[in-house]
Amino acid sequence: MMALSRAAMLLALTMVAAPLSDAVQLPEGLSYDFHAQSCPDLDNMVHHAVQAAINKDAGVVAGLLKIFFHDCFPQGCDASLHLTGPGSELDLPQNAGLRRSALLLIESVRATVHRACGPVVSCADINSLATRQALLSSGVPGYPVPLGRKDSFAPATARQVAAMPGTDSTPDELLKSFASRGLDETDLVALSGAHTIGKATCGSFVNRTGEDAGFVRSLQRNCSVLPTPPLQDLDVTTPDTFDNKYYANLRVKKGVFNSDMALTLQAKTSELVDSFARDQGRFFAAFSTSMSKLAHLQGKPAVSIGEIRNNCFRVNGKKEEEGFAASA
Ligand code: HEM
Ligand SMILES: *[C@@H]1O[C@H](CO)[C@@H](O)[C@H](O)[C@H]1NC(C)=O
Ligand SMILES: *[C@@H]1O[C@H](CO)[C@@H](O)[C@H](O)[C@H]1NC(C)=O
Repeated sequence: MMALSRAAMLLALTMVAAPLSDAVQLPEGLSYDFHAQSCPDLDNMVHHAVQAAINKDAGVVAGLLKIFFHDCFPQGCDASLHLTGPGSELDLPQNAGLRRSALLLIESVRATVHRACGPVVSCADINSLATRQALLSSGVPGYPVPLGRKDSFAPATARQVAAMPGTDSTPDELLKSFASRGLDETDLVALSGAHTIGKATCGSFVNRTGEDAGFVRSLQRNCSVLPTPPLQDLDVTTPDTFDNKYYANLRVKKGVFNSDMALTLQAKTSELVDSFARDQGRFFAAFSTSMSKLAHLQGKPAVSIGEIRNNCFRVNGKKEEEGFAASA
């Protein structure tokens, strides 16, 4: 297990030399080995902390993955999501239910890293590294992540966060929303494969429609049997395994969200669903590439505006209770 993760890590490191694609630019001032001198043991510290957290609760992988998407999508990967207090992104409906354990893990890794190296690594960088490590531990191939990012001074605005796709988005809306961030249909289908793990609350699929009445009824029945319904597995076949069964589920109309089923409604995305359902290796390769594109997302103005937070939940020198209403 250990040896395998090591090999995967080496793969991640050797991959950084290869250009990802012409479409993906390394943001100015960032590099893939930014901390090589200032914090040479960084990858190891992240590896050990994330692995220990997974051993305690494998659900932290889903938590990290969703947090990464929700941080990077609105205005680039800048840990703006992690800020707490009035006016924070975490209070917006789109971010309801993000796992606290994963948010706490990122802050705890930051503390460990700062104790060893000083305050030289941002929460945004920890976020990228921890998410990649969680995926490596799940069998996903490594991918390059840009490092040297700064943490934002303020949360993203509600308007930026509202640009995220919702579970009732149409195929067209999903594609447009991803395209607005330079992500194409392959990225949409591959990244939606994140729903091969993790869970949802009933409110996220109350509007689930579709012809497989049996499945839809079962989804809704499970939401009404108890006063506090159990969380719904997003992959109803292999809920805890990072694999390509999500796509096989879609082919038999057993995706939990309308936005999952939407991928089967368009010729191009439906072809990708079929291809990933047939070939897990192809899904893993595409997922890894698309995660790297997500990790490269960059807000405007540039990264250089920001700081290395000494607590991921707060802007330096600011008390959480002060909030962000004034600066957002
Ligand atoms: C394409 C549009 C997407 C929509 C509409 C969407 C929506 C959602 C919703 C509503 C939930 C459940 C929230 C809850 O009820 O608590 C969820 C869970 C999740 N999403 Fe997505 N999502 C999308 C794409 C993505 C992407 C791109 C990723 C990551 C690469 C991702 C990763 C996850 C994970 C891992 C979970 C489970 C979280 C957990 O168990 O803690 N999703 N998603
Ligand atoms: C479900 O549909 C209703 C009525 O169209 C809408 O008001 C509500 O926001 C939808 N729920 C979700 C979670 O999208
Ligand atoms: C509903 O709950 C039952 C019993 O736990 C489970 O077997 C079934 O798979 C659930 N339905 C769905 C759609 O997940």
